Amino acid sequence: MAVTFRQLTPAFGAEVSGVDIAKGVSNSDFAEIARLFNDYSVLVFRGQHIDDARQIAFSRRFGPLEGTVRSNVGAGSEIAVISNVDPETDEILPIEDWRNVYNSGNEMWHTDSSFKRVPATASLLSGREVPPEEGETEFATGRAAWDDLEDALKEELDGLVAIHDFAYSRGLIRGDLVDEAQRRETPPVPQAVVRRNPANGRRNIYAGAHASHIRGRDIEESRALLRSLTDRIVQERYTYTHSWRQGDLVMWDNRCCLHRGRPWNKGKYRRMMHRTTVAGIGPTAA
Ligand code: OGA
Ligand code: MN
Repeated sequence: MAVTFRQLTPAFGAEVSGVDIAKGVSNSDFAEIARLFNDYSVLVFRGQHIDDARQIAFSRRFGPLEGTVRSNVGAGSEIAVISNVDPETDEILPIEDWRNVYNSGNEMWHTDSSFKRVPATASLLSGREVPPEEGETEFATGRAAWDDLEDALKEELDGLVAIHDFAYSRGLIRGDLVDEAQRRETPPVPQAVVRRNPANGRRNIYAGAHASHIRGRDIEESRALLRSLTDRIVQERYTYTHSWRQGDLVMWDNRCCLHRGRPWNKGKYRRMMHRTTVAGIGPTAA
């Protein structure tokens, strides 16, 4: 089977065919997937009915995986379960259950693990159970937004460092979602505002919901600047909306894309997603 692909939008994204992860992916096919990942940022693989072990094995080929943070279901494991189902009873959670509120943080435009000193390179999300409508995942590319910036703003942003803070972003939802232990586990960290892909040299804006403010600048003013950068990234022409089918595996480049989950009827329909996260190779800022 040869790996082929179809571009999803003019700006980014590719649906990849000719890959059966459960059967195994050859080294040459894997090399092509890795190239597509660097060039297209979001890869969609349809019809991949895989279990956790296969998802982990495939994900590890991109690099070592992250463990999940404390508050997630299954903390410490290499699989993060993002769902509205109670793992104990297998019943749909009450809408107001704290886990639903906590997961609603994913509905803000963000990039995974940017609140960690070494942020994630990639995430792979497997749709194990998906609702019949809504609950899409949206992606936006920070590359096109960078390319479009006026030169003066490019110069201003280059070299800036943003402080990313999990307690700040979750605090936007509700003040009590992050406890003291988790605050200690995820202290604020510095991240470059402009990043460059080492494989192809393309540059992009890097920010999102965890970005609290810019180091050395007025908090409110720099917060407004970060919001305006997000607004530029998430313009419709730079976004792709993924409508889930069971068995989809979607992989994205956290170094250059933002994403967000969309709401669905959480009291009525089950949605169970399993995520693996490929760790980054080093800090983005000193
Ligand atoms: C994630 C995430 C959004 C979604 O898994 O990192 O943000 O649509 N998910 O479930
Ligand atoms: Mn996410």
